[in-house]
Amino acid sequence: MTRHADYPIDSLYLNRWSPRAFSDKKVSRETLYTILEAARFAPSASNIQPWRFIVAQTEEELATFSEFIAPGNRVWTDNNVPAFILLLADKYRPNGELNPYYAFDAGAAWQSLALQASQLGLVTHALGGFSKDKAREVLQIPDQYEVLTLIALGYQGDKNRLPKELQEREAPNDRRPLSESIVSFK
Ligand SMILES: Cc1cc2nc3c(=O)[nH]c(=O)nc-3n(C[C@H](O)[C@H](O)[C@H](O)COP(=O)(O)O)c2cc1C
Repeated sequence: MTRHADYPIDSLYLNRWSPRAFSDKKVSRETLYTILEAARFAPSASNIQPWRFIVAQTEEELATFSEFIAPGNRVWTDNNVPAFILLLADKYRPNGELNPYYAFDAGAAWQSLALQASQLGLVTHALGGFSKDKAREVLQIPDQYEVLTLIALGYQGDKNRLPKELQEREAPNDRRPLSESIVSFK
């Protein structure tokens, strides 16, 4: 389907979507860093910038990441995704108190990098379907960081590379009307 906006938003927001088929094209260091640079400028509470990124690109790193990805996602991630970004957030303020906004702010960083990637002609696909405990264990992530989301990054590929049932779902999805999101509980 083609996405349609009811109000005149920038095409940037409509063009980003999350395919599962990636091409063999590698993501250069320059491109990867440009995408992460966009995340760097996301807003955050007290400008704490709680986001942290663990990147996987080499064959060895990709194999390590696939150990903690859920089987339902490995059917499309294995031998397909050329780069992963594991999004973490530091849960604490510099004074050691809990930062209640760490996840909110890391979410802003994810959106920034996803839109920058899309503008550069790449695609991203966030995944919650992985074991955060296993990721913490194999990557030796300290407790102060919350493991939030895994992000697949690369160039879009041919959907014929996917298992049949995923080929049928390989298209942008829609959204409920805005009127259903603007609420009042009075
Ligand atoms: C936090 C998060 C977790 C997600 N987890 C998965 C996942 O495990 N597997 C998957 O195929 N897609 C996953 N998705 C992709 C969503 O299903 C997708 O973003 C949503 O349907 C909207 O589609 P769009 O990104 O193409 O606009 C996840 C997205 C987010 C933001």
